[in-house]
Amino acid sequence: MRVGVLVSGRGSNLQALLDAQADGTLGAEVAVVLSDQPGAAALERAEAAGVPAIHVPVASKRARMREDDEQQFVSLLREHRAEWVVLAGFFRIVGTPLLEAYPDRILNIHPSLLPSFPGLHAQRQALEHGVRVTGCTVHLVDSGVDSGAILEQRTVPVGQADTEESLSSRVLAEEHLALPATVRRIAVAGFRREGRRVFWNDEGEERT
Ligand code: GAR
Repeated sequence: MRVGVLVSGRGSNLQALLDAQADGTLGAEVAVVLSDQPGAAALERAEAAGVPAIHVPVASKRARMREDDEQQFVSLLREHRAEWVVLAGFFRIVGTPLLEAYPDRILNIHPSLLPSFPGLHAQRQALEHGVRVTGCTVHLVDSGVDSGAILEQRTVPVGQADTEESLSSRVLAEEHLALPATVRRIAVAGFRREGRRVFWNDEGEERT
């Protein structure tokens, strides 16, 4: 299973994928890493792992890209024979070109238990709302913002003393487990989707 990873910044989730690939537990190969930001640390991480790392210039600063800009991502993903796409800290909204090229084959990692706290600053939103439990979600990407069918979630308790930084770092540790595990599960088992519900092929009827 060949995976293209789209990034915008730090790239710690990309690193979790690359580390899992290196130790043979990803069940997939990172075929290419594409960044909309020229100086993204994620690009250096990809290069260090020997994975093609490409900056894709995007004209607008807006979250929603122009279709011709988005088409560049599609072309590069196809050129590198990516079968699946992972958004790992990619701060753009995916539109028609990518969704039509990779229907139900684009994953995103988000630092909250969706549908709570979509969008930016999810951990700050969780703290301000006063929830006792938050976490992370890996989901399929659809045309909305953090709104697609849920593949995997991991929980993190919120403590009285938590700050945005402390909570983010504990959520991030769970993201680094959830994302490679989900990619592996897709590669090894697969799933089918019925509406918003995802049914994993390796999950028996009896599991609660
Ligand atoms: C991660 O926490 C990811 O879940 C979040 O940005 C961070 C990227 O970190 N993504 C979103 O909030 C998307 N809505 P990374 O670049 O170190 O992987």
